[in-house]
Amino acid sequence: MADTSVGGTIWGAWRVAQALAAETNRNAVTWSVFKSTSLTCDNSCMTDARSELREVRGEYGIDGGSAAIAYLPAGVAVGLVLAGFALIHARSGRLMLAVFELFGGLVLILIVLTYLYFTRRGKFVVWAELLDSLPFEGDERVLDMGCGRGAVLGMVAKLVPRGRAVGLDLWRSQDQSGNSPEAAWRNLDLEGVRNRCELQTGDMGAMPFPDCAFDLVVSSLAIHNIKSSQGRLQAIDEAVRVLRPGGRLLIADLMRTKEYARRLRERGMEEIVERRLDWRFWCGTLGMAGLVTATKPGNPERSL
Ligand SMILES: C[S@@+](CC[C@H](N)C(=O)[O-])C[C@H]1O[C@@H](n2cnc3c(N)ncnc32)[C@H](O)[C@@H]1O
Repeated sequence: MADTSVGGTIWGAWRVAQALAAETNRNAVTWSVFKSTSLTCDNSCMTDARSELREVRGEYGIDGGSAAIAYLPAGVAVGLVLAGFALIHARSGRLMLAVFELFGGLVLILIVLTYLYFTRRGKFVVWAELLDSLPFEGDERVLDMGCGRGAVLGMVAKLVPRGRAVGLDLWRSQDQSGNSPEAAWRNLDLEGVRNRCELQTGDMGAMPFPDCAFDLVVSSLAIHNIKSSQGRLQAIDEAVRVLRPGGRLLIADLMRTKEYARRLRERGMEEIVERRLDWRFWCGTLGMAGLVTATKPGNPERSL
């Protein structure tokens, strides 16, 4: 039964006041913990994420799939045979022929070595540098067009602990060995970023996302796989469409980056820069890899 005496009422009021004070205090503590967590995440957590960029834990296969796996040993074998002939012809005094053979053999071996270096290490190093140069706040929405087994997707996801990293692909095994959403999920697990990632099966030329859905769109060695020029330009148009005004686009690819830059100009993108990438991204092309970056015009509320 309730105590209705004056003393009982004062005691009850005192308990209610105490409970309210405790609740206010708890909220204040929660708020300060929340604030300090987000502050920590803005500073040291982002610093940790940036150093994590260089750690590769997943298994990302070989770009070019089964064709590359067949041609790479063949390239080394032919290169060695040519070098052997060069030695024989040099001894028999046919120096011009020996020089050509040696040159051909060395070029073949260089192609194979830069291909292997690129696919196993170089692309990770180059993308780590590219992503590290962007001023992430940690809550961005990022799209990786043609993410494959998640090499770049996993890296960019490390930089958006409060954001979202989405990978789109058709999972073509001729473009990357062992390519599948399952392989990508395994890698995202190993990189410790599954909780902030999403994978979608779809074509870059008709992406299943609304307009202005992303702060950043990246693509690594993927768009050149579309055979027709029309199809590649369609993919560039789609990248522009899904970027929000002020959003950034980074495409690293083989051979076609000038074509992409022209299309981006036609589509009114700003700050378009196209440049060659160094030997770490050659992927056997001996100098024909490039990077194109651009910003979507409009409200520059925040630009990466
Ligand atoms: C060489 S792999 C590169 C994968 C990844 N970006 C990387 O750097 O490891 C090219 C990827 O593009 C994907 N791809 C090719 N054409 C595509 C298209 N039209 N739409 C979506 N993805 C496509 C392939 O399935 C493959 O995963």
